[in-house]
Amino acid sequence: MKLIHITDTHFVKPGETLLGLDPRARLDAAIADINAQHSDADLAVITGDLTHWGHREAFEALKDSLGALRVPVKLILGNHDDRLLFKQTFPDAVLDENGFVQEVVDTSAGRLLLLDTNLEGTHAGWYCDARLAWLDKELDRSGDLPLFLFMHHPPCKLHLEPMDQIGLIQADAFREVVEPHAHKIRHIFFGHIHRPVAGSWLDIPMSTIRSTNHQVWLDFTARDTIPGSSEPPAYAIALIGEDSIVVHFHDYLDASEKYVMGGVKYSDWQEPDAAE
Ligand SMILES: [Fe+2]
Repeated sequence: MKLIHITDTHFVKPGETLLGLDPRARLDAAIADINAQHSDADLAVITGDLTHWGHREAFEALKDSLGALRVPVKLILGNHDDRLLFKQTFPDAVLDENGFVQEVVDTSAGRLLLLDTNLEGTHAGWYCDARLAWLDKELDRSGDLPLFLFMHHPPCKLHLEPMDQIGLIQADAFREVVEPHAHKIRHIFFGHIHRPVAGSWLDIPMSTIRSTNHQVWLDFTARDTIPGSSEPPAYAIALIGEDSIVVHFHDYLDASEKYVMGGVKYSDWQEPDAAE
């Protein structure tokens, strides 16, 4: 199975920019790249911060942009999003019994659990008792199926102090619910960090990538202020097999020279089959 991971699109109202960048243009470019190279993907998931200010016009612009994507897409919420306006803009979005944007998606590779860690008024992650109960129930109901979690906030601290300060508030309770099922969870995809990060938690592999808009600079001395950067945007391609999961990070706007080892110009190079 081929899965595309996009995160933190941070859409603003049409005509506005964010940190000097146009989030719509950046996602449109990612979509064009995905359509050209990965239209065979089974699914794309955007792990939250769909918008920056939660404005209705931003959600509508996102919906319009995603109309061009030739891969089915699922959306989850981040701390910058407005749940009510999201639901109004995407009325077909699947909700749990309490109205949170949480969904179970069955695929050829296993079951995806899409989680909602949004709480209006805070940038930290919030996973209340109702959402914990939903997750507990779904983990139980999944039996022996291989599982994949998608969530905006990472499940543990990442040793990046300003980001850890706006991490998952109920991390201990979350761990209590997940730990008995950790052996079934093959990967956790998260957002929020605007940097490439990979590792494991409870022996569960996990990864995130840069935003399609603005980035967080790697500075382990930062304390209360998030250091920003203009590093390039990225999306990821996860290739999920029975005995491996490989996640490729792709800087899709990279304009550096491409070449084939041996001196042929990359733009002149063709696979032998294509040349026939
Ligand atoms: Fe974000």
